[in-house]
Amino acid sequence: MATLHLPVERNNGVPIFRQIHDGLRRAILDGRLRPGQRIPSTRGLAADLGVSRLPVLSAYEQLLHEGYLVGRTGSGTFVSTSIPDHLLRSPGARRLAPAPRPSAKLRERPVPNQPSPTSWSLPIVPFQVGHPALDLFPHAAWAKLVSRQLRAETSEQLAYGDPAGWRGLRVAIAEHLRASRGVRCVADQVLIVPGSQAALRLAAATLLEPNDRVAVEEPGYFGAHRALRAARAQLVPVPVDAEGLHVATLQRRGTNIRAVYVTPSHQYPLGMTMSASRRFALLDWAVRREAWILEDDYDSEFRYVSRPVGALQGMDARDRVIYIGTFSKALFPAVRVGYIVVPPPLWTRFLESRFAFDLFTPTLYQRALAEFLKQGHFARHLRRMRSAYLERRNALLRGLSRHCGDLVQVHNSDAGLHVAVLLREGVEDQDVAARLGRRGVATLALSTSYLEPTRRQGLLLGFGCAEARRLFDATRILGEVLGDLAVASR
Ligand SMILES: Cc1ncc(COP(=O)(O)O)c(C=O)c1O
Repeated sequence: MATLHLPVERNNGVPIFRQIHDGLRRAILDGRLRPGQRIPSTRGLAADLGVSRLPVLSAYEQLLHEGYLVGRTGSGTFVSTSIPDHLLRSPGARRLAPAPRPSAKLRERPVPNQPSPTSWSLPIVPFQVGHPALDLFPHAAWAKLVSRQLRAETSEQLAYGDPAGWRGLRVAIAEHLRASRGVRCVADQVLIVPGSQAALRLAAATLLEPNDRVAVEEPGYFGAHRALRAARAQLVPVPVDAEGLHVATLQRRGTNIRAVYVTPSHQYPLGMTMSASRRFALLDWAVRREAWILEDDYDSEFRYVSRPVGALQGMDARDRVIYIGTFSKALFPAVRVGYIVVPPPLWTRFLESRFAFDLFTPTLYQRALAEFLKQGHFARHLRRMRSAYLERRNALLRGLSRHCGDLVQVHNSDAGLHVAVLLREGVEDQDVAARLGRRGVATLALSTSYLEPTRRQGLLLGFGCAEARRLFDATRILGEVLGDLAVASR
């Protein structure tokens, strides 16, 4: 017992008897106390730990009751020799046991070179990619609508909902998409899902067989890579250039490509808009090959230089485009509401998989959101956000030019909530991102968006989530980090 480490802290909110109980139990389960081994008397342990005897007595009693200890009259207390195996595999034991070796199949799963699943749930700091201006969200109006919906809740609204989504929201989304994105749709084509990630999973589950080949933009969106891989698709990277996806290369990549994932309005991550001729070529390819186009229109609401470009879906007369949108950027990610505009011939298939997936999207936020759109809050919010983002983007560009000079080359800054910058030859973007992270600035290394080994080195600088001044200040830090690296490499 001399080597047994039993930490007891007085002010950590956990009762002392519970800490002693848990510490002894852990020691038994992970083998530091062996079956049959004698444990100290309650008086001895209380003295060792510097606590009164009462909590030690309570802990022993509990362990005796649970069968971890046995008491022998006159000779003391011992670890039970008959702890059943299932207890050694209890949740506590599992936590302590070494992680089981993954099977060969499981070992294939980790995605190399890509941002970790937790990279989005970090504190919100300048340059973090993917976050909108949560500080400017109209909380009061939203809270009013949500609480009104809560108060009005009837039994019907607490019951299972429509797998397609709350009708009022589907109507409002269809109206919005027709008017602002040129999407050809009616409410009966709109399927509500918990975000565009879920939309991608659903589309993949509905349209693909395992090992189907799916083309993706190179570089491209890691969330899409993950969703498609989860459906056992084989990813076929196709390069992008100033006009977006290089459709001629797609055509050369074989006849058996079942689908292509694209971000035509604002290519993720490099930011260009797909040209009209590429759009027609892509639609033509899809019709000839009977392939599907998964169009991700994730942040199309925000354009700063020219007028918004309509969705590719609006040009599709042959039902090849599955259009995916989200409220994560236009409103806030935690709302977890996205949508798919499904070509009518595929509706029943999609609805079946929607049902199999998770039945339906929680109703309360859908109802509040429908009102948010209907009452004009959404349109007003977008107008405000466009000018706020323009200011933030301009501050970022000013800062880059002032502090980074020719250490970075701005790739594209016409739209969306981030700017992609390219780094000088020889500078490694993951190294820069790590150095910035240590100084409280969160960027995403461009190289993590590539599937193939040839990777451009750059950074994605999110400007949605921080005020103009903080963005400007962060460019100074970026300039210092890049300046130090430039000096070190001379
Ligand atoms: C290309 C792209 N699609 C979709 C999303 C949003 O995903 P979700 O709707 O699941 O929050 C993001 C977020 O950054 C994105 O970059």
